[in-house]
Amino acid sequence: GKPVFVIHRTPEMITSAQNGDKETLPDPAKDADRVKKPEFLVLLAVCTHLGCVPQPIGTGNFGGFLCPCHGSHYDTSGRIRQGPAPRNLEVPHYEFKDEKTLVIGKALS
Ligand code: FES
Repeated sequence: GKPVFVIHRTPEMITSAQNGDKETLPDPAKDADRVKKPEFLVLLAVCTHLGCVPQPIGTGNFGGFLCPCHGSHYDTSGRIRQGPAPRNLEVPHYEFKDEKTLVIGKALS
């Protein structure tokens, strides 16, 4: 029931995200703790400020996601780097069922 971003990250995006680990972050998190495979980034596309859908990858001051209504800039790991958003874009529960199948969300049981 929520929008998601599934990003196939380039090597440059991965390097940028890993370099961000060294910065002082408003909501500290390592890139490696936010992805199961470095080449795939899975996020809820919901700004943690007031809930807008940010613009897609490659926007904002850190090459990630820009939420333009109040100017929140997220990096290529979905971490908040600048602006009023208090937390990183949320990483939902997900798993790779196999090489070609990504399942987002928890199955009801
Ligand atoms: Fe994203 Fe305000 S809702 S910056």
